[in-house]
Amino acid sequence: MQLKFDWQIVLENLRNGIMVTDVTLEGPEGPRIVYVNSAWTKMTGYRRDELIGKTPRILQGKHTDRAVVGMLKEKLLNREVFHGQTWNYKKSGEPFLMNWHCYAVYGDRPDPVYYVAEQQDVTELEALRMKERLIVNPNDAVALSFFAVLGRSDTTEKNTQ
Ligand SMILES: Cc1cc2nc3c(=O)[nH]c(=O)nc-3n(C[C@H](O)[C@H](O)[C@H](O)COP(=O)(O)O)c2cc1C
Repeated sequence: MQLKFDWQIVLENLRNGIMVTDVTLEGPEGPRIVYVNSAWTKMTGYRRDELIGKTPRILQGKHTDRAVVGMLKEKLLNREVFHGQTWNYKKSGEPFLMNWHCYAVYGDRPDPVYYVAEQQDVTELEALRMKERLIVNPNDAVALSFFAVLGRSDTTEKNTQ
């Protein structure tokens, strides 16, 4: 007996965001988004229909670390797995800390078919870590700039009392 497997139901119900792009890394248009799952649209506030065909650069902004996204490109061109995190921006413009793995997937041929990213908003997790740093040192520059990006100066004040 063959068991039925519906991969779409699984993708749509994963806890992490999934983004799939084509493999055109060069040029301002590429890579182009071909799929995002429900967790991804929930995380960023974008609707799926406004993203298909766009580039993931849509998420980038003032505080996005160019060194991190440069590393992603380098890793993919070398057929390696990328793992990193940087500031990205939701559709509303709200910054959040994106943590993601990105890699090529292959079909029957040796060339990559898609790039896949497993993505997670780790802002709240990082905020806890940064709060702890401020308890140890209220002038911790890394933690202060983290909360400055978020526009949450009240959080830092609480910890300096
Ligand atoms: C599958 C995939 C997912 C990506 N996801 C993100 C992302 O979540 N955030 C981000 O800032 N860049 C993301 N990127 C990186 C950008 O699309 C772009 O490739 C990167 O900025 C490097 O190219 P550039 O130097 O030409 O901008 C992703 C790229 C790929 C292929």
